[in-house]
Amino acid sequence: MKTIKAGLVGITGYAGMELARLLAGHPQMRLVMACSRAESGKRLGQFYPFLEGLPGSDVVISVFEAAEAARCCDVVFLAVPAGTAMEMAHDLLHAGVKVVDFSADFRLRDAATYEEWYKGTHSQRALLSQAVYGLPEIYAAEAARASLIANPGCYPSSVILGLYAALRHRLIQTDGIVVDAKSGTSGAGRKAAVPTLFCEVADTFRAYGLPGHRHTPEIEQELSLLAGQELRVSFNPHLVPMNRGILSTIYTKLADPAMTLDQVHDIFCQTWQDSPWVRVLPKGALPETRFVRGSMFCDIGLVVDSRTGRLTILAAIDNLCRGASGQALANANLMCGLPVQTGLEHLAPLA
Ligand SMILES: NC(=O)c1ccc[n+]([C@@H]2O[C@H](COP(=O)([O-])OP(=O)(O)OC[C@H]3O[C@@H](n4cnc5c(N)ncnc54)[C@H](OP(=O)(O)O)[C@@H]3O)[C@@H](O)[C@H]2O)c1
Repeated sequence: MKTIKAGLVGITGYAGMELARLLAGHPQMRLVMACSRAESGKRLGQFYPFLEGLPGSDVVISVFEAAEAARCCDVVFLAVPAGTAMEMAHDLLHAGVKVVDFSADFRLRDAATYEEWYKGTHSQRALLSQAVYGLPEIYAAEAARASLIANPGCYPSSVILGLYAALRHRLIQTDGIVVDAKSGTSGAGRKAAVPTLFCEVADTFRAYGLPGHRHTPEIEQELSLLAGQELRVSFNPHLVPMNRGILSTIYTKLADPAMTLDQVHDIFCQTWQDSPWVRVLPKGALPETRFVRGSMFCDIGLVVDSRTGRLTILAAIDNLCRGASGQALANANLMCGLPVQTGLEHLAPLA
């Protein structure tokens, strides 16, 4: 059994930490390189005591160098901010290393849209056409042939999976979709910032980034492809005083207001019957973030209100696992010829 050697840039961030956790339990992938500028020189087991004694704990944190990565890695995960990943990805691909990028640098197929929403120049436009948007339920075949994965955003993962069955089977009107999404504070990353200090997030509840959060064009891009027409959504994120988890409540209008919950539920169940990570809950049950914590599951609940003609879809994921590192690992599995679920069969720890 060949061991796949993995590098991780951004080891000190929340997404990097979650990937280090997942890689420590992976049967065929080993962390051989871990990069951070601020913590370089520290042994990983010293920096992350939860890793002590496990595979990867003896890796010494280093500053990223593409040549060194090319020497020792088969695949490199870029868990760094948008705008910093694109050059790294270019150098790694040039050296023949597969890349999974966590940032938004390769998610938007149109460079002008990226530059408009991310307020920076896209220096690697030529790579956009070879990047695969890594939502395994939709793009697994493309991911298996890819060298560059654009790992989806956390909110978009919940919204796209939530709406997929409804759009594919034309159950809903394509205009007027409203997404009311809530995330735990790890979604904002680990860097010190006043808006995410304990006293600023505990015991309060607020919306942010309205209108025009950066995940909007990514959601619209993928939903438009699904619907086969240009589609606009109103995307409204909120910050919840919890560490992890996303719950997206998606308000839609049924195309046929006479449709029943039984009919909608049957179609959702059929759509996802071969996708073990997408769980359509029994009729009447609504998802909770604690039941998907630390896992790849996307739990979907359905509400049909015949009085208003609305279908409300609720989708819960873990932002760090399904919304970032678990999904990145699933994509790396596909790229490296492993079964997609390898090392990812966790259930949520409860209480
Ligand atoms: N948090 C989530 O829920 C989530 C979900 C989906 C996607 N993502 C994406 O995943 C990426 C990482 O997010 P995060 O939440 O883990 O962020 P984070 O906690 O702020 O960590 C960022 C990491 O990147 C490194 N870094 C920052 N600037 C860098 C630069 N210019 N060059 C090289 N390394 C740099 C940092 O280490 P040093 O500064 O020491 O180098 C740190 O390890 C982002 O693109 C984010 O959008 C995050």
